[in-house]
Amino acid sequence: MSATNPRILPYGTAAIEEAARLIAEGGCVAVPTETVYGLAADATESRAVAGIYQAKGRPSFNPLIVHVTDIAAAERLAEFSEISRDLALRFWPGPLTLVLPVRADAGLSALVTAGLDTVAIRVPRHRAMQALLVAAGRPLAAPSANASGSISPTRAEHVAKSLSGRIPLVIDDGPTPAGLESTIVREHEILRPGPLTAETLFPDEDRPVHLPEAKRPGEIIAPGQLESHYAPASPVRLDAVQARGGEWLIGFGEIAGDDTLSATGDLIEAAARLFDALHRADASGAPSIAVAPIPRQGIGIAINDRLRRAASPR
Ligand code: TXA
Ligand code: MG
Repeated sequence: MSATNPRILPYGTAAIEEAARLIAEGGCVAVPTETVYGLAADATESRAVAGIYQAKGRPSFNPLIVHVTDIAAAERLAEFSEISRDLALRFWPGPLTLVLPVRADAGLSALVTAGLDTVAIRVPRHRAMQALLVAAGRPLAAPSANASGSISPTRAEHVAKSLSGRIPLVIDDGPTPAGLESTIVREHEILRPGPLTAETLFPDEDRPVHLPEAKRPGEIIAPGQLESHYAPASPVRLDAVQARGGEWLIGFGEIAGDDTLSATGDLIEAAARLFDALHRADASGAPSIAVAPIPRQGIGIAINDRLRRAASPR
């Protein structure tokens, strides 16, 4: 694949047709979802799924999320408990991934589940991913469209930079609205915090929903659990009230910084801007990045989760 790849095509019929053609041939293409840009391939073909792992340089023990058009399609792949069906009915399409027992007749590549007896499934809301699922006519495995270990892409340019020369096509439909990867849930447990908060998902729960501790490679329950997983190139310092030395300061609310996640202290806006701000901080050439304190409530829990990973030792 040449260094001028990927091509970036604006969302539309031509882009979706081209993407579906590449997927039918066993290739992978980058496509926006409401969370982050994903790198999609046919989830039923091991050769196609291997192409995702190869393009990302991803360790093969980390399983992928399978995207489908609707609940009926999800029920052909996995067994739903009452709790999981209730969540699916309430939040699909949307930024929710459910971890479910995989059906014996699902027909998924074993590479998608990385040998687990469960599968992570999501019905996305974004028009581009929905159109691609319909055009491709099959479940699509899609991790975030970035090189393994680096920050997830919220813009087509982030994808083109991170996967330059490694994929043929990015469908560009502007910045992704939520800006953080989907919330991953297994029954009552949140395995990865995300745009849908614990309070929204489980309003009747009287105790905090259990979040398993981050695991080391080899003992992964779910993804996103590698400690250093969303890391920019430069070191990151958290809960900073001002920049030290040559640091680039990412602000929030009262703390202005070189760039701010939200001048008004709006956590939803901050989530949508987080990865773009980290990409810009990296591009600034500053030797290190400092980030203002972000309240640990609501979607601030997911923001702090990603920041903690960005700041953890590599
Ligand atoms: O918003 C998102 O979820 C994006 C968009 C593209 O849909 N996708 C995404 O995928 O973030 P990825 O591959 O970067 O993260 C998938 C996560 C990983 O942390 C993986 O460990 C977890 O899902 N996962 C996948 N299958 C699992 C399973 N069977 N059990 C537990 N965790 C699983
Ligand atoms: Mg990822």
